Amino acid sequence: MEIKNICCIGAGYVGGPTMSVIADKCPNIQVEVVDLDESRIKKWNDDDLDNLPIYEPGLSEIVARCRGKNLHFSTLIKEKIKTADIIFISVNTPTKKKGLGAGKASDLKYVEACARQVSKYAENHTIIVEKSTLPVKTAEVIKSILEAPQSYENENKKRKSFDVLSNPEFLAEGTAINDLVDPDRILIGGENDKAIEALSNIYNQWVPRNKILHTNIWSSELAKLTANAFLAQRISSINSIGVICEATGADVREVSRAIGLDSRIGSKFLHSGPGFGGSCFKKDILNLVYLSNYFNLPEVANFWESVVHLNTWHQHRISELVVKKLFGTVSNKKISILGFAFKANTNDTRESAAINICKDLIEEGAELIIHDPKVNNREIALALGIESNFSQKKINGNNVSEIEGSWNSCEDFYDSFHNADAALILTEWQEYSNIDWQIASQRMRSPAWVFDSRSIVDPNEVKNANLKLWRIGDGSTL
Ligand code: NAD
Ligand code: UGA
Repeated sequence: MEIKNICCIGAGYVGGPTMSVIADKCPNIQVEVVDLDESRIKKWNDDDLDNLPIYEPGLSEIVARCRGKNLHFSTLIKEKIKTADIIFISVNTPTKKKGLGAGKASDLKYVEACARQVSKYAENHTIIVEKSTLPVKTAEVIKSILEAPQSYENENKKRKSFDVLSNPEFLAEGTAINDLVDPDRILIGGENDKAIEALSNIYNQWVPRNKILHTNIWSSELAKLTANAFLAQRISSINSIGVICEATGADVREVSRAIGLDSRIGSKFLHSGPGFGGSCFKKDILNLVYLSNYFNLPEVANFWESVVHLNTWHQHRISELVVKKLFGTVSNKKISILGFAFKANTNDTRESAAINICKDLIEEGAELIIHDPKVNNREIALALGIESNFSQKKINGNNVSEIEGSWNSCEDFYDSFHNADAALILTEWQEYSNIDWQIASQRMRSPAWVFDSRSIVDPNEVKNANLKLWRIGDGSTL
């Protein structure tokens, strides 16, 4: 089966970069990315590539090469479903907020809406690819919607048919383009060999055959949840060891290095930090917890849930520690927050550790000055659920103490140090590792602290600038 037209529903962090790379690698295929969100599509079509809705190193260059040639972004969902040979479903699958399974199960309403649209508008034979991360057995839900009587025939009374494949995405934000161009593996789960072959042929334009793995559809769905659960588990594991390091005088960087050199363990995902963020780890583990409970496996459910509990506890632990070091109170104290994205090289703030930590400090009455090279004031306000309220404070003049707990953002991080009692590094942006701590120290209020939750500062430079230092998992800085 030759694929000439691809439609991807969902122009988000997965749909946008994934389709850009497919378009770049497969010049003979027309790639149509569609989304309900008009403003997002407008940004994808912006002439100024700095305004793309997603910041991802290397992405704008690909969009510049392919957009308008074989890569198109639009809201023409119906039209593009009609002409597609293959449809990728890349919509969001957040955790359900209410009803059955609330707080754990995935909310499949967007996926279901896509399946219904496809069932209505597709023509002839179409391959449906689950690109979103989905609970095991979702393909069955999609199939039953597609097989419903109304989808037997199209408007011209021609019979239509479908194949459903699972093809989870393993890219990480910040390295998405590299992950897509040179993936560790491509996973395709399904039953129909012809459909599997058609999808494999697309990837095989740039990915060697031996990296394209075929499994049954349920293994593919479960492997995606499992991969994220294993990665997140490593982070909770090393963060828990970091706390022991702080209590005993050990250093988590040394412990990580020592265990990572064991080839059975490996060195990746052993960096202790402020706790994992991002839109997927927590959601996907909770999904696994829901699945385990559903199959009456409470011990398995508890095992995975503890990974999330440890992470949340760890985030709050960091804000508590800052308060303790600042003599037990941060009320009306200025704190410079360096980084708000959940990791470096992305503008994504979903589930960022910065959210819980900043909220705690605001609750304690601190005045935060937040800097992030890629996250703007509006996005911070949305993530915190709190408007920036410095201007209000200024209007109130002397009554500052009446409005305890506030935040504002700044463009130049050196501005955040003025009269600050502490600087707290939450995201490992490269520019924070080059901070001139002598300059920072002159601007800060003594005794001032640097809290480095990402291990990116040079401890000697900080100490030589007469600043007190706390590093994650470093028993010697306590
Ligand atoms: P996202 O929120 O950035 O994008 C999803 C897009 O789908 C949104 O723009 C939304 O408007 C659109 N959408 C929702 N319903 C629609 C509909 N019926 N028709 C048209 N458009 C619709 O989400 P994301 O981060 O790209 O994640 C998508 C999926 O991929 C999730 O299941 C996620 O778990 C998975 N995933 C994400 C990553 C990542 O790094 N973000 C990596 C691997 C897998
Ligand atoms: C993660 C996985 O790495 C991807 O394979 C997967 O496709 C994706 O989730 C998904 O399904 O959404 P992502 O969340 O984009 O990718 O980024 P990661 O690099 O995994 O980082 C996640 C969080 O863990 C970040 O907050 C990061 O700072 C933190 N982290 C990561 C650590 O604290 N220590 C580490 O050693 C590694």
